Amino acid sequence: MNILNLDDFSVEQIEKILNLAEEFKNGKKVDYEGKKVISNLFFEPSTRTHYSFDMAALRLGCKTQNFDSGNSSLKKGESLYDTVKTFEMFGTDALVIRHVENEYYNQLVGKINIPILNAGDGTGNHPSQSLLDLLTIKQEFGKFEGLKIVIVGDIKHSRVAHTNIKVMQRLGMTVYISGPEEYKEEGYNYVELDEIIDKVDIVMLLRVQHERHSTSMQETVEEYHKAYGLNKQRVDQMKPTSIIMHPAPFNRGVEIADDVVECEKSRIFKQVQNGVYVRMALIHVALEENI
Ligand code: CP
Repeated sequence: MNILNLDDFSVEQIEKILNLAEEFKNGKKVDYEGKKVISNLFFEPSTRTHYSFDMAALRLGCKTQNFDSGNSSLKKGESLYDTVKTFEMFGTDALVIRHVENEYYNQLVGKINIPILNAGDGTGNHPSQSLLDLLTIKQEFGKFEGLKIVIVGDIKHSRVAHTNIKVMQRLGMTVYISGPEEYKEEGYNYVELDEIIDKVDIVMLLRVQHERHSTSMQETVEEYHKAYGLNKQRVDQMKPTSIIMHPAPFNRGVEIADDVVECEKSRIFKQVQNGVYVRMALIHVALEENI
């Protein structure tokens, strides 16, 4: 089965995926004994998503292929569809795809006959990131209902924010948004960071996505850090039980101070670790067509 957009999954199914990921964390063994091949097709740069999908596949006893887009026939003008179809014809068992175009998968669904796992589409969806964020929250608080989160930064260009806002609200969380005027989008619950920071359970920071901007950022790095960055003074305002999250990569000294990245409240590297368990669960679900 395809895993493209969390809107396609019920809350019950999302909970099942998180439980399966937790089982993998606790040592559950699934071994495909080298009989399944997972192909990672990243048409956009990635470290965490690409290589944790790769690690997840290896941990499940799959073999992997890692597409080198910079040295591929994309350079000769080959299309996304033709590239993906080529991998299907090689005999791969599932495709992990990241692409710059929002909902790129719509041009593949119905024509590609093996599972597609969306590893991020433009500013649209990042289901595996959102699930690893949810797993991290569940491990911390044991629930979603009633939790409050503020997501801070470049909301407009963030597929992580777009995915998380929807699914977190479905799970009963209250989602506040904070960030510069230029990155605002209609329909969200905007607040000033300094007015909400002592009331939320989670502060989630976002990287400023310069690569998706048509104009340069209005603020200097120093101005951005002062207005929206999480520094030690702001951390000290947070509730004793609250945590800090960031999908990464993070820019030290911009949206997060260097000494906050690995502070006691930070779960940033735990998120990275949870990414492997969540992606093991997703590959297993996709291959077994069962959730
Ligand atoms: N969080 C995330 O998607 O990171 P990468 O771009 O490194 O995969």
